[in-house]
Amino acid sequence: MNDIDRAARAVREDRLWQRHLDMAKLGGTAKGGVNRQALSPEDAAARNQLMGWAKARGFSVFTDAIGNLFVRRPGSDDGARPILSGSHMDSQPTGGRFDGMYGVLAAFEALEALEDAGVRTRRPIEAVAWTNEEGSRFQPGAMGSAVFAGHYPLASALTVADWKGVVLRDALSQTLAAAPATRRSEAPGFALDGYVEAHIEQGPRLENARTTIGVVTSIQGSRRFMVEILGEEAHAGTTPRAARKDAFVAAVAIAGAMQAATRDADDTLRFTIGRVDVQPGSPNTVPGRVSFSIDMRHPATDVLDAHEAKLRAIVAAEAAPCTASIERTMAVAPTVFDPDVVGLVRDAARRQGFSHMDMPSGAGHDAMHIAGLCPTGMVFVPCERGVSHNEIENATPADLAAGTRVLVEALLRLANR
Ligand code: GLV
Ligand code: MN
Ligand code: MN
Repeated sequence: MNDIDRAARAVREDRLWQRHLDMAKLGGTAKGGVNRQALSPEDAAARNQLMGWAKARGFSVFTDAIGNLFVRRPGSDDGARPILSGSHMDSQPTGGRFDGMYGVLAAFEALEALEDAGVRTRRPIEAVAWTNEEGSRFQPGAMGSAVFAGHYPLASALTVADWKGVVLRDALSQTLAAAPATRRSEAPGFALDGYVEAHIEQGPRLENARTTIGVVTSIQGSRRFMVEILGEEAHAGTTPRAARKDAFVAAVAIAGAMQAATRDADDTLRFTIGRVDVQPGSPNTVPGRVSFSIDMRHPATDVLDAHEAKLRAIVAAEAAPCTASIERTMAVAPTVFDPDVVGLVRDAARRQGFSHMDMPSGAGHDAMHIAGLCPTGMVFVPCERGVSHNEIENATPADLAAGTRVLVEALLRLANR
């Protein structure tokens, strides 16, 4: 048997599944999901778990200035640029057991499978857990990979505060104190020769098509905005309508107009208001200030541009008698993955006999930042009914193992190039 088949067969479905169950205990919720937000004590616990497993296998572990965590299996040419694979261990507040964690555990299982099969690679292969992919606690998301890639300044990341006012620098140093690892270098980022990220699909297409492997060709572009509306606090019982500057009334008008303006005929544009903050938050005071977040996505930059212009016009038109502003807090261009890596993933699925289909990604992933640094691709596996960002998110042990076998083959081919 050749190295690729030996390594793919060394992927252990039971071990990979058990590792998901073990990780799901860290921040586990009553409904069976996880709340393991970035740089929380639960995140530190997951880091310690991964590092414990890594050290037990004799792999070295490193972190960097933004807390990205790397597990390294050496290559026979150990000075060669490594191949990287991974995803994230942080979750949404009501997150599932597989979003992100699967990509980290699949990469780690790949290292273990190579080890168990006694297969050496020319290049080192590293598993990575990127810091703060979700962006639900600290914005923007995909922060660790963005800082690694030089797309977002480390200094800006360190000064971001969460909704409670905790500054990222402090949360990061607490996390790294609780889960210490060797610091690799002061400046984040190092040269890579390839990156492949495994992930659950987070949508229903694979399951509907009864297909095991998604060969990911692209990721749609995404933008985030914050809208802030300023009105005037007033007594809820006495203030007549004409005298009110109710920031929530203006927010409803703005949000309603935005929903209408972003409803496209072919249901491609994604528009979400996921967080609304109403101040002072008292039942009997007219709200004086409302802020809300917008997440907007589409595969085409010109469509995003056109809709951004519409959002800005709506904020200007609908705020009176309040005042309102809109700030763009994040923009990631659509990503097209490297045809060679896409081809490696497709060939691996075909060669190993898994049903597969090419598909774009609707969700964002750390791969969108790494794609500019080195040849990059992704492997998707189905998740139940396509449900994700939900505590009931589910996937089958067999599908997770299949995606990992495809991942191993792609990594091995890249590492011997
Ligand atoms: C990642 O979770 C995303 O929002 O796409
Ligand atoms: Mn994810
Ligand atoms: Mn997610």
